[in-house]
Amino acid sequence: MPAMGSMSCKIAIVYHSAGGNTKALAEALAALLPEAFLYRMNEFDLRTLPDYDALIVGTYTWGNGELPAKSAAFYKELEQLPIARLKTGVFGTGETNYNHFCGAVDHFRDMLFAKSQLLVTLKIEQMYQESDLHRLQKFASLFQN
Ligand SMILES: Cc1cc2nc3c(=O)[nH]c(=O)nc-3n(C[C@H](O)[C@H](O)[C@H](O)COP(=O)(O)O)c2cc1C
Repeated sequence: MPAMGSMSCKIAIVYHSAGGNTKALAEALAALLPEAFLYRMNEFDLRTLPDYDALIVGTYTWGNGELPAKSAAFYKELEQLPIARLKTGVFGTGETNYNHFCGAVDHFRDMLFAKSQLLVTLKIEQMYQESDLHRLQKFASLFQN
């Protein structure tokens, strides 16, 4: 392997968004992690996961605190893979007027805590705001070493 100029880890940010809230959050996170690779969930090939040191998953929540279908399919595939070495994080958007705010984040959190090196989770109310920046910066900083 050729020597790389940077020691930073290779990061994939993989998100699923229907209305754009989670997409905006994923893009704000990618702006803080300029070396990360940003993918829509249906564009990311999980067979390439061994190329990455870190995987950051983003999803909105559907139903009653549930994963939307695409996120559920991704979850089921991911939990079968050997990801014990992988650094992971989960972010999501939801609405606090539902009983289980960002329940989909909790589902990924529980699985990734058990199976991988989960570093952090983040839940954002609907559209990402400037006032959320400090929390997002803290999230991003954990993947910068
Ligand atoms: C039918 C329906 C069910 C939802 N259920 C939940 C829920 O259980 N918990 C929650 O936090 N948000 C829930 N939401 C809110 C969405 O997760 C929220 O609007 C999110 O920001 C949408 O993300 P997106 O714009 O990336 O698609 C629901 C929205 C809809 C339309």
